[in-house]
Amino acid sequence: MTQAQKGICAEPNLHALFLTFNVIDDDAPTMRKKIAQVLALFSHYDEEYYEAMVSGIVAIGTDYWYELYPRSIPQELSPFPRMSCDDRNAPASPGDLFIQIKADRMDICHAIGTEVIQLLQPNVDLYEEVKGFRYLDGRDLTGFVDGTENPKGMHKFNVALVGDQDPDFAGGSYIHIQRYRHSMEKWKQLSVSAQEETFGRTKTNNVEFKGVDKAPFSHTKRTSLKDEQGNSIEMLRQSMPYGDMTIQGLYFVSCAKSPLPFAKMLKSMIFGDENGVYDKLLDFTSAETGGAFFAPSINFIKQQANE
Ligand code: HEM
Repeated sequence: MTQAQKGICAEPNLHALFLTFNVIDDDAPTMRKKIAQVLALFSHYDEEYYEAMVSGIVAIGTDYWYELYPRSIPQELSPFPRMSCDDRNAPASPGDLFIQIKADRMDICHAIGTEVIQLLQPNVDLYEEVKGFRYLDGRDLTGFVDGTENPKGMHKFNVALVGDQDPDFAGGSYIHIQRYRHSMEKWKQLSVSAQEETFGRTKTNNVEFKGVDKAPFSHTKRTSLKDEQGNSIEMLRQSMPYGDMTIQGLYFVSCAKSPLPFAKMLKSMIFGDENGVYDKLLDFTSAETGGAFFAPSINFIKQQANE
């Protein structure tokens, strides 16, 4: 039985630390061992501070994958789908490793992060660290509850994890990250009803608009997609707000059994529908980073550490 990394399907936590690294040498055997040791660190903290609900993800950047595990490549491994239309951009940024640490205690996230960095040095450079936090009752800083339509129960595992379609990588997950920065002043100038129209949901009570009442530019319309057979295209979002008194935004993280849902939804947001009607949310927030990663199963990481 393959075991998925705990952070992929974990329930939301109060705190997160999102770390992206670049690997600065070509010592792949050492990195394979160190990545397995990162998993051991997560388990140690999870057992020692069980009330903190610790969970973690270690994911490998799609370019670096070919150096780290050259003999075994996930079927759909593909680079970040950078795209741009008018002033709507999805840039790609450097990232050989992505590490997501979540817990209900910030001190535990900090302790794990410190140990992860000690362990990975001197092989890596820290490219970016972002602290995420739960805001009110699970809201984005725009004031809207985020994550409501995430898949639930067993369905969550079917959506987020590779299954029989790629047996060597069963239990793995295609991860995409984007750090969005909100224009809060601009957003606050919108009336509540215009904000609600932008999302296609009510603000206070988080009620979904009826299909016919949803504007084609609403975020939930632009991201509710179906494939040619009429099946819903789905992903599991693990995003969290971040920020301080100067900069605010959403650290977007998605996990899926294929990289296609992310690419299709992003295209629908940025380029819009057949009439070019794009996601109006993008008038109020912009992506400053972007990365595509694969988070292999625990079994895979442990096995490769000994090769
Ligand atoms: C700053 C960026 C973003 C913000 C603030 C944001 C916020 C939200 C909110 C508040 C909802 C409604 C509640 C929910 O179901 O979670 C939502 C839904 C959703 N978002 Fe986003 N989101 C962002 C970016 C993205 C991106 C980049 C994607 C995919 C590429 C995405 C995919 C989805 C999906 C699939 C849904 C559920 C749609 C449905 O079935 O109703 N979001 N988002």
